[in-house]
Amino acid sequence: MERTLKPSARSRVLRVPAYAKVNLGLEVLGVRQDGYHELRSLFQTIDLHDDVVIRPRRRGLEVRCDHPDVPQDERNLALRAALELQRHAGIERGAEIVISKRIPVGGGLGGGSSDAAAVLMALDRLWGVGLGPAGLHGLARRLGADVPFFLVGGTALGLARGDEVYPLHWQVRGHVVLVDPGRPISTAAVFARMDRSLTPRENSNKIFRFVSSDLEGFRAFGILANDLEQAALEEAPDLADQVGRIRGILIREGAALASLSGSGSSFFGLYDDARRARGAQSALTAAGFIVLRARTVSLGQYRRSWARSLGAWRGGAGFEPVKEPAPWRSRTSRSSR
Ligand code: C5P
Repeated sequence: MERTLKPSARSRVLRVPAYAKVNLGLEVLGVRQDGYHELRSLFQTIDLHDDVVIRPRRRGLEVRCDHPDVPQDERNLALRAALELQRHAGIERGAEIVISKRIPVGGGLGGGSSDAAAVLMALDRLWGVGLGPAGLHGLARRLGADVPFFLVGGTALGLARGDEVYPLHWQVRGHVVLVDPGRPISTAAVFARMDRSLTPRENSNKIFRFVSSDLEGFRAFGILANDLEQAALEEAPDLADQVGRIRGILIREGAALASLSGSGSSFFGLYDDARRARGAQSALTAAGFIVLRARTVSLGQYRRSWARSLGAWRGGAGFEPVKEPAPWRSRTSRSSR
């Protein structure tokens, strides 16, 4: 592909919301030859987000973050994203990246991966590289298995290491109640624990059944599960003590799905109406938990958010405005009309 690397016409500051994700379902099928795990993951973006401000500079890259647990050197995935893009495109220009953290760190909500994807998208624009989300996919997957999803967003299926991402025709619309246990869990440690008990399960098909089901309202979520939950609770025994209570409250308040997100430590409940979600938030807060509330972000909403942050896209592959896929509606909402 021929590309002209001319600087962006407007050298301006970009402010980008970097949204969190939850895994509505997560199946671990086996260990791959590269040491990673073969996954089927049902990703969902939610509107809880970090704020990433990217300021172009003549030279040099710098990242700053207001959260004490986020490194500001090359261990920072957002800085690595900028370095990778710089190297890939042979760019000498620099940037200052400032991240205001709202997404819990080490919570299985993809905050670091989302910040990295936001930096790729913003610098691709500011530096005038012009790869667009499809062209950035290769760089994203080298940074981490969850990063490619954040170039897509909405409700999407993740295969292979979770980095082969397919947006779904139907998009989940709902309310999410998150419980932040306030302690990080290492993803690598959870997968390593899982290996000790993993028997190959290529035939597990819950996520495929869910995706191809007739989506009978929020009841369809009942078949989804997170295969990492047991290993995560072994890794964090203090969390294991609280899980029964958290799940009990989420379900009692009407959650269609109550699950760990990714490798933890966050738990979440999915609700089809705001009233139930508020009920769950109050009950969990009263029980002493730290609770955050969010809404799902569909593929169309996610793309419109990029368009607002980056401006109209010219010359980038795969970032044309799309027709919003038909929103998925629960049977309950259909029959109540
Ligand atoms: O790709 P990322 O660096 O986010 O993954 C963190 C860790 O999670 C990896 O080092 C690996 O141990 C584990 N992982 C895995 N299989 C996947 C995704 C992640 O084993 N598909």
